[in-house]
Amino acid sequence: RPRILSGMQPTSDSLHLGNYLGALTSWVDLQDSYDAYYMVVDLHALTVAPDPQVLRDRTRRTAAQYLAAGVDPERSVLFVQSHVPEHAELAWVLSCHTGFGEASRMTQFKDKSARQGADGTTVGLFTYPVLMAADILLYDAALVPVGEDQRQHLEMTRDLAQRVNSRFGRTFVVPEAHITRATAKIYDLQDPTAKMSKSSSTPAGLIELLDDPKVIGKRIRSAVTDTEREIRFDQESKPGISNLLTIHSALSGTPVDALVASYEGRGYGDLKKELAEVVLDVVVPFQERVRRYLDDPGALDEVLAVGASKAREVAAATRDRVYDRIGLLPAR
Ligand code: TYM
Repeated sequence: RPRILSGMQPTSDSLHLGNYLGALTSWVDLQDSYDAYYMVVDLHALTVAPDPQVLRDRTRRTAAQYLAAGVDPERSVLFVQSHVPEHAELAWVLSCHTGFGEASRMTQFKDKSARQGADGTTVGLFTYPVLMAADILLYDAALVPVGEDQRQHLEMTRDLAQRVNSRFGRTFVVPEAHITRATAKIYDLQDPTAKMSKSSSTPAGLIELLDDPKVIGKRIRSAVTDTEREIRFDQESKPGISNLLTIHSALSGTPVDALVASYEGRGYGDLKKELAEVVLDVVVPFQERVRRYLDDPGALDEVLAVGASKAREVAAATRDRVYDRIGLLPAR
């Protein structure tokens, strides 16, 4: 079976609907047909300078949310990035093959560093995509299921793989992004031209999976729409309504066309009310499952330990292959 790999940062107590629909639901769908590796990228989270206790807690919470969404540790390898030291090792090697200009062109780096200013920007933020490339290339992953915002990082990963392969002979599998078109970019409820993001300007634009259901309902009801009355999908002139239709369709399984037809002659209030029901039907049982996993941290840590040892087998073999190709003297 071809291999896939993906990860999310433990930078928040809760994943949001963009993480869930843009990536996590495809992780779950793909785990049957692929040899799947899913991780919590705690090393990447260090770029936001988290409080140590908060980081540890969020790492477990993120893993619990993967499980609650349906990632099955019997079928997929579920692990924490820092438990596999080869990630940091390969990142160093790859950083020696990454152009300074190339890394400077990453739009996520440009956006984040602009927000933090030169003094607040770390070298870690700059080399973040190199660590991400190491994550992927260590596992010979053919596919990487992510949202649209990760496309450029995937392109850089492919370039690095090809560069190393052409210099040292075939060393890496050149991976492809797996981006689900309909849900590649879920938008902010208050600013439906910007992606839903943990760092968005107002929390009212976010739907966090672990939020109080009352808060979730309220945020959906106050979502920004437009001054027309007609419910139709039109990304350009009706981004707010289109986003609500996208979310509804992804969660209810009803195609957007059929949804639009069913709302003919009805108003935005009806759409929002029903969308809130659809979201809560998913979120309420999800929260219950997350709570169960978090109530037993020992069992959760055991799942992660088993995952880390499976991941290390693959990662160590790749690291050895790379070290050999590039001429590092083997330790004996
Ligand atoms: P992160 O933690 O920011 O986001 C996790 C996943 O959620 C997707 N996503 C979205 N999809 C649709 N609409 C949105 N509004 C939205 N917001 C986030 C992201 O595209 C991502 O798939 N660099 C990665 C983490 C990472 C990684 C990796 C991913 C590290 N190493 C190796 C894949 C493979 C990140 O910051 O994701």
